[in-house]
Amino acid sequence: MSSLFEKCLHVVRHSLVIIGTLAVVGVIGGLIFMYSGVFNVAASVKDSSVLSWALVTVRESSIKLHARDIQNPVAGVVPDRDNGFRIYRQECVMCHTPIGRSPKPMAVGFNPQAPSFGPDDDLMTPEQLFWVTKNGIRFTPMPAWGPSYKDKEIWDVVDFLKALHEMTAADYDAIDKRIPVEVQSQ
Ligand code: HEC
Repeated sequence: MSSLFEKCLHVVRHSLVIIGTLAVVGVIGGLIFMYSGVFNVAASVKDSSVLSWALVTVRESSIKLHARDIQNPVAGVVPDRDNGFRIYRQECVMCHTPIGRSPKPMAVGFNPQAPSFGPDDDLMTPEQLFWVTKNGIRFTPMPAWGPSYKDKEIWDVVDFLKALHEMTAADYDAIDKRIPVEVQSQ
């Protein structure tokens, strides 16, 4: 008669064989799925609710974690909101359609869509907005601005986004009129 110890060993060995077989079948199944082309990468395809939930959850958790140690990069300096608006109008507006404006053809086709930062959108904390603007969001059209703009400039944009969140279409038009467009030399 086998001892209790031998019986346990037998069960563990059996379980390991089953887990190992399942893992191999899973990897082979995954590779067949990847190479088969059945997954449609078209941006025009609407994500299923499960995929959408998974992508939003990963994005939100990642931003929360990575932005947790961020601090105001220019503490003690009042942000230059007008400068933030200038950068926003030059670099962001073509994707993040402000309230009262029609989206550019490019922005209509995004998957995921770019938020407008209007009163109906949830706004992240300033530190999270800073982290996203500096680093971008992988696998989406949102680029990283850190390589092109200084932390101070990104903080100015964040300050403008906070104001934008409270703005009406008329407020946006007013700031757009007040601040002249700088002519860019290529
Ligand atoms: C080429 C298009 C494009 C440009 C240009 C762009 N963005 Fe984005 N941005 C996106 C898209 C698309 C998303 C949505 C990503 C997602 O949902 O995962 C996004 C998301 C964001 C978010 C996260 C907001 C949220 O609540 O999820 C912030 C903050 C942001 N962008 C800031 C900016 C700023 C500031 C600029 C300009 C300096 C900018 N973006 C320029 C496309 C763009």
